[in-house]
Amino acid sequence: MAFNSPVFNRIIVPVSFASTLVGGAFLTKEYKGGRRCPSDESMKGKVCVITGASSGIGKSTALELSRRGATVVMACRHMGKCEKVATSIRKSTENSNVVCRFVDLASLDSIEEFSTSLSSEIDHIDVLVNNAGVMKPRMPRATPRTNDDFERQFGVNYLGHFLLTNLLMDKLTNGSSAGRIVNVSSEAFQKGEINLEDIEKKNLEENDEKLTEMYYQSKLAVMLFTDSLSRRHPNVNANAVNPGVSSTDIGRYSSTPFYAVGMVLYKPFQWLAMKTPRQGAQTSIYLSVASELDKISGSYFDDCTKVATVSETCNCQHANALWEMSDAWTDLNARRKRMRESAMKT
Ligand SMILES: NC(=O)c1ccc[n+]([C@@H]2O[C@H](COP(=O)([O-])OP(=O)(O)OC[C@H]3O[C@@H](n4cnc5c(N)ncnc54)[C@H](OP(=O)(O)O)[C@@H]3O)[C@@H](O)[C@H]2O)c1
Repeated sequence: MAFNSPVFNRIIVPVSFASTLVGGAFLTKEYKGGRRCPSDESMKGKVCVITGASSGIGKSTALELSRRGATVVMACRHMGKCEKVATSIRKSTENSNVVCRFVDLASLDSIEEFSTSLSSEIDHIDVLVNNAGVMKPRMPRATPRTNDDFERQFGVNYLGHFLLTNLLMDKLTNGSSAGRIVNVSSEAFQKGEINLEDIEKKNLEENDEKLTEMYYQSKLAVMLFTDSLSRRHPNVNANAVNPGVSSTDIGRYSSTPFYAVGMVLYKPFQWLAMKTPRQGAQTSIYLSVASELDKISGSYFDDCTKVATVSETCNCQHANALWEMSDAWTDLNARRKRMRESAMKT
């Protein structure tokens, strides 16, 4: 066939062009998706608790840990949604040990109830994935404050997980090996600032920028928390994760009038430029399963690779003070005492 024949010009050229585009798009997608968890270890006999496991990155993490045979506790606040996801995970992984338990991380009492009840059900926890998160919550979709009157992003992303982890610490140190704590942060922590005198950032105007600043701050607080955990609790392994920008619906509580329209228009670019939730979950999965990480704590991971220790990655000078303040804000000692008393009664 001649290169200037009509068949060549009308069919072969456009088809080759389209195939190159599609192939290129898939290659870009794969490249952008980052590394896959390099460990294929089984999780049979392990107990994993994952917050925010009913959607996005948490759901993909729950699916993979179930596939590897773990008992998975999906700690979520919308029980209908959670049960639906748990049912599909049980079915696709043929693992019946996938359960939903209610916790609202925006309520310190709810976290205490969850921890008390879970502690009476299980004798140890191998992995706690502190994954749940909220970004730029706005009325009417989400109240900007938690039940205990903290700014919601600080309250859910950081403070709720601070309390949860501390209340579950006895269970995390009760297994055959050191329990693992996987704190889902974000590279956004790099833009975060924590002023302990003004955690609420009262000096800033109430606008979109402030919400963004509060998100950054919450993710930096998660980093400081990870650093403190590794120093205060050498008998557990606590590490922080950047999942990478992933195409979840994390912005759904940020109901600006244009959000829904923007999401539809942005979808094709989102597919190309962002990780899928499964890709975003790979580093959390790696930190949950890989035995080569048995002795690693206080580090920051990205794309299934240790970047550095948390203290090398960010300024942790406020870590101790933040811990002490969080201890007081959450009334940790009283809650821990109540939990122990309740355990003695049962
Ligand atoms: N997607 C990204 O590009 C990206 C990038 C960096 C870091 N991250 C982090 O990755 C984590 C997972 O986010 P995602 O992208 O997978 O978003 P997502 O799909 O919205 O997942 C967030 C989960 O957190 C839960 N959650 C929110 N508020 C809660 C509360 N008060 N109590 C209990 N659970 C609550 C949500 O439950 P409901 O459905 O009930 O609200 C949901 O299951 C977050 O910590 C996020 O900050 C995400």
